[in-house]
Amino acid sequence: MNIDYNIMLIGFMGVGKTTVSRELAKSLGMQEIDMDSYIVEHENMKIADIFSEYGEYYFRNVETDCLIEIQKRKGRIVSCGGGVVLRDENIMYMKDGGVIVLLTATPQTVYDRVKYSTERPILNGNMNVEYITELMAKRSERYEKVADLVVTTDDREVSDIVSEIIEKLKA
Ligand code: S3P
Repeated sequence: MNIDYNIMLIGFMGVGKTTVSRELAKSLGMQEIDMDSYIVEHENMKIADIFSEYGEYYFRNVETDCLIEIQKRKGRIVSCGGGVVLRDENIMYMKDGGVIVLLTATPQTVYDRVKYSTERPILNGNMNVEYITELMAKRSERYEKVADLVVTTDDREVSDIVSEIIEKLKA
């Protein structure tokens, strides 16, 4: 499969974007970019430290700048930060030469996957299923509106998720 566009993986924290993008990149022989890692490198700071020192608004500006840079090259798999869909501007950049794949999981699955993480400032002090359910409900419409493909990740092997994405990309 010769892919000359970017595959943008989006979805809530803990749906498996980073893990899936790594495996998808291997399967398709494509280069993979993790937006959060890109931001950490660009700012030379951890995500949690960027939030605590400069605040969310600053982080979102860096996120947009990094997205613009990343989208200058095509044929990559991009694992996007969970909040990247919050700005209309970002969606415009993501759609430009990119197919958007939404990964989903239930709030309980997300909680089970991220409960010990201290690297997700949005969930700091709110690490519980109720909060995740509320925040996911607020964001769901946005995720679904921008997605070209939707793939669920609950109780599934990564290889199975990757196969489904490839099948859907071919269709
Ligand atoms: C965020 C998700 C995180 C990271 C930041 C904000 C969000 O990425 O970009 O902590 O607002 O949902 P992951 O979805 O990779 O955890």
